[in-house]
Amino acid sequence: MHSGGHTRRMLLKGVSAGALLSALSPAAARIRMTGSARIEALIAGMSLAEKAGQLSIYSDPVRAYGAVVNPGVVTQGLTEIKARIARGEMVGLFNGVGVALGRALQKVAVEQSRTGIPLIFAADVIHGCRTIFPIPLGEAASFDLDLAERTARAAALEASALGVHWTFAPMVDVARDERWGRVAEGAGEDPWLGEMFARARVRGFQGTDLRDPTRVLACPKHFAAYGAVQGGMEYNTADISDTTLWQVHLPPFKAAFGAGALSTMASFNDIAGVPSTANHHLLTEILRDEWGFKGVVVSDYTSEQEVVAHGYAADERDAVVKSLTAGCDISMQSGLYYKHLPELVQSGQVPIAVVDRAVRRVLEVKQALGLFENPYRSLDPARQVNDIRRPETVALAREAGRKSVVLLRNEGNLLPLAKTATIALIGPAISDRADLPGPWAVFPDVASHVTIEEGFRAAMGSHGALHVARGCDYEAPIEGGIASAVAAAMACDVVVLVAGESAGMSGEAQARVDIGIPPAQLALAEAIAATGKPLVVVLRHGRALALTGAVRNAPAILASWFLGSETGHALADLVFGDAAPQGRLPVSFPQSSGQEPFYYNHRSTGRPQTSDEKDYKARYREVTNAPLYPFGHGLTYAAVVYGETMAKGPLVRDGRMIVWATVANTGNRPCHEVAQLYLHARVASVTQPVRVLRGIRHLDLAPGQVVTVSFDVTEADLAYVHQDLRSFADPGLFDVWIAPSAQGGTSATFAMTD
Ligand code: BGC
Repeated sequence: MHSGGHTRRMLLKGVSAGALLSALSPAAARIRMTGSARIEALIAGMSLAEKAGQLSIYSDPVRAYGAVVNPGVVTQGLTEIKARIARGEMVGLFNGVGVALGRALQKVAVEQSRTGIPLIFAADVIHGCRTIFPIPLGEAASFDLDLAERTARAAALEASALGVHWTFAPMVDVARDERWGRVAEGAGEDPWLGEMFARARVRGFQGTDLRDPTRVLACPKHFAAYGAVQGGMEYNTADISDTTLWQVHLPPFKAAFGAGALSTMASFNDIAGVPSTANHHLLTEILRDEWGFKGVVVSDYTSEQEVVAHGYAADERDAVVKSLTAGCDISMQSGLYYKHLPELVQSGQVPIAVVDRAVRRVLEVKQALGLFENPYRSLDPARQVNDIRRPETVALAREAGRKSVVLLRNEGNLLPLAKTATIALIGPAISDRADLPGPWAVFPDVASHVTIEEGFRAAMGSHGALHVARGCDYEAPIEGGIASAVAAAMACDVVVLVAGESAGMSGEAQARVDIGIPPAQLALAEAIAATGKPLVVVLRHGRALALTGAVRNAPAILASWFLGSETGHALADLVFGDAAPQGRLPVSFPQSSGQEPFYYNHRSTGRPQTSDEKDYKARYREVTNAPLYPFGHGLTYAAVVYGETMAKGPLVRDGRMIVWATVANTGNRPCHEVAQLYLHARVASVTQPVRVLRGIRHLDLAPGQVVTVSFDVTEADLAYVHQDLRSFADPGLFDVWIAPSAQGGTSATFAMTD
């Protein structure tokens, strides 16, 4: 019955594709067909339960690998999962699995299920897999797109060595409110930088051929406007204008799809009252009809079920109808598609064509990954050993760590420190190995993480002396903690105080009303500062912080985010000057939490405060509008001076215009400077931000070296989203800056003409 001869005979007789599938062994069907013929044959022969199963993904209940990162919902045992796979009723699993279980389950799928459709294994590989890189926000501080591509590529190598085919990354939400905990996962507050990082990360994950078993499918998320949740509160509503949606929140997604990303995740939030997961305008009209997206849309961990709580669907069945019809192809974790779709089709509430459309997209993605030809791709026991924590991957984590740190302040050139110094290293994080990876590491190899203390000791060797004291816990004092920290400080030449958030204080569901450093750590900082010892503060954080008191006033401050596996080495490289800081802030540091959302590319308003005048101006009573540290800010160990910005206008539409400025290293150390191009439209039919970033240049400058840095400006750089949502530039006057940050530099003015 299943012989090849039989198959050929049936084909010759013109038997329909569906009948052929029913008659074939799954393997035979898989092997003999390719492309859309295979997919249509499968769809034609699939039962409703098999189709609903291909639209339902669940987290791995075994958890041989992986931390728990989600609430427990619909927990099924391995036996039940295997039985469902054998019945061909499961698309795949996420966040766990590993090679051994992955192979076993894949064998069941391809050999026992009637359809033989291989499983897809997914995971949240957000900033590294076993080797952890800096959190995405930290890495964005490198302003280094090549670095982001290389770390995504290395993460794909490790993830695919653990059996992962599909990462739920990159997170490309533009986040302008630092109260939102998920700022940590993205590229910060700037849409243009967001586009650049989105592209780089997709390229790094996917490469040029998705069938490459060392690559993974990317899933830009969360579509869309999740970064705009009101008050920065997780899962909250986003009520934004269409122009803001199109100009700020959609561009990084469009860039990611342009780079080839073949999946996306619908966001938890609603936009102006319509939950993204059931938003036809978003998931179908924009994503597919307008942008031509050919991939698959997955819900975000029960988000299709949550449209009921949103008040957009009457019950679970209504939620399924609305979500699937809107264009959400796969249900994550709720099990609702699996539970209700067969009956909804039978009762005529969901046309079978809508189900088939979603199944087709799923099968096309599996096909693009080469899973039909090679179901055991990325499930290679040898790779599970050889491709994990390769020396070059660990070295990359150290490099990425170094490049992600921002030197905010360095009064009197306190940094770098001499390795011969006697140093007090103080703070709750200094020896905390488990906290190093930050908020979004599912598979970290914690034992191999290098703590800050270990990094310092390795760098100092036998030269100087290191006294360590924890001082307090992240959010609570410890008995005698301050006294022993003060004693350590008194015994030393200089103090390095590591202060800020624990990993658990940022990331998903960690919105904060006060983005300051917890009071227990502030009390410690005050006591240390009172010793009068020179104080270096190393901040750890998943967002911009509102700094106060002794931390704010410390003469040297490094913003270090969460740097991952090589934290200790990377920090020591910078603190002792074996490497120079080069990071730039991808988020503005406010004066105070109450200013949030606080971002550099805001609109002017009708009463901007342009001088010290206080009355009837757009301002707060208590603080200045100027950021404590602006977007783009970052010092080096040298001194960098920018000349005047020069522009050779006018720019003729369709033409290009050069702008340039000199950049000089007037210090006595080499440095790496990141020159930034900003633009501003003086008049527009939708008012435009006071500045927008449109270019970056990385410059290596020797002491005394002066270079001229230039950028080409074209109409595309001046384009903005008009009320009819078309994007183009209007003729008129523009300001341009080549600057070290969103606050610095001098401007030139030019005109664009038709
Ligand atoms: C998060 C997603 C994540 C998913 C699966 C959700 O809670 O919002 O970013 O991919 O869980 O872990």
